[in-house]
Amino acid sequence: MNDQIQQAVIQLKAGYLVGMPTETVYGLAADANNVNAVKKIFATKGRPSGHPLIVHVAAPNPTQANEANQSKWLKVLEPWSRDVSPEALALAEKFWPGPLTLILPKAKSVLREVTGGQETVGVRCPNHPIAQELLNAFAGGLAAPSANRFGRISPTTAAHVRDEFPDSDLLILDGGPCEVGIESTIVDLSRLASDGPVVLRLGAISQEQINGVLTHINSQKRIDRNLESSELPRVSGSLSAHYAPKTKLLLYSAEQLNQLAQELLLDSEKFSKIAWVHFHQQATMNLALKKTVVKEIFLPENPTDLARELYALLRDLDKLSVDLILFQELPSDSRWAAVKDRLGRASVGSGT
Ligand code: TXA
Ligand code: MG
Repeated sequence: MNDQIQQAVIQLKAGYLVGMPTETVYGLAADANNVNAVKKIFATKGRPSGHPLIVHVAAPNPTQANEANQSKWLKVLEPWSRDVSPEALALAEKFWPGPLTLILPKAKSVLREVTGGQETVGVRCPNHPIAQELLNAFAGGLAAPSANRFGRISPTTAAHVRDEFPDSDLLILDGGPCEVGIESTIVDLSRLASDGPVVLRLGAISQEQINGVLTHINSQKRIDRNLESSELPRVSGSLSAHYAPKTKLLLYSAEQLNQLAQELLLDSEKFSKIAWVHFHQQATMNLALKKTVVKEIFLPENPTDLARELYALLRDLDKLSVDLILFQELPSDSRWAAVKDRLGRASVGSGT
């Protein structure tokens, strides 16, 4: 076992936190069965205690013999959920290890500090070699939210995690930049009988992909709605202001740009330094306003690349000490939905 992993396991067993790379964003991990360790997560992040945490689990050992016809994920999920549905197993089979979190009826032994006092638990099997190595070596579940201070931008490199908690002696495992870059898709399977499966947060795995799997197993009610924030008090990523840079971030559509430029020019004392982020092809701007642009950034043309880069970009923009980030709205087709969602929340919470 690698020294760093061994060190991380010692820290976790002793009730300390560890910065853990995953394919989505870095997590702030604690032993999910240790109340005091879990409480440290909330204290460190400044996160309200009612917000539940995701439990991260190791993938099943492929060499382990399976009992006839049993999904290999059943044994992984049983310690955490008292009722593992065929829907849960089908989604795990298809997307785990990967950027998907399942909300399931919790097993009795799951700590209330992890679930925020709810009867459900979020479980995810991450697809990052270091996360898997750590989970295997630790041989237990790791509760881990994104490793940022509450409401701020999720970290996608080890250096981002260090920046979030500069004063702590947190051990951070460096797994390089995150491949996906935005948080996992969350599917609530805890109220199948009444509501069917419900997507609580979009991520790299789309609603269509989830539907595709559930249609095959004849899930009684298919996902037909994506609950909005008012119905989701417990998902902090669903608060309208989240993932926020400190600099004011204004989203604009290409058609609005000239009108907006006029308005900004009227307020030119307030907005004398602007960062302009946009898709290359629509690069026309009022010349007077363009003089105030101290940084121009071109967005990648596909949503997967932008998801990977978005949080690092927002952090870099925040360091420029500009008065305003002028950010072109993303296309409205469903391929962009997850990254568009994060950008919208970043905009709402920005400038505070
Ligand atoms: O990709 C991810 O999911 C990352 C990496 C580290 O795995 N984790 C992450 O954790 O984004 P966090 O805590 O920043 O966001 C998890 C979201 C929260 O909004 C939380 O409210 C929701 O999942 N959640 C967790 N357990 C839940 C439950 N039992 N019911 C409803 N929502 C739950
Ligand atoms: Mg978070």
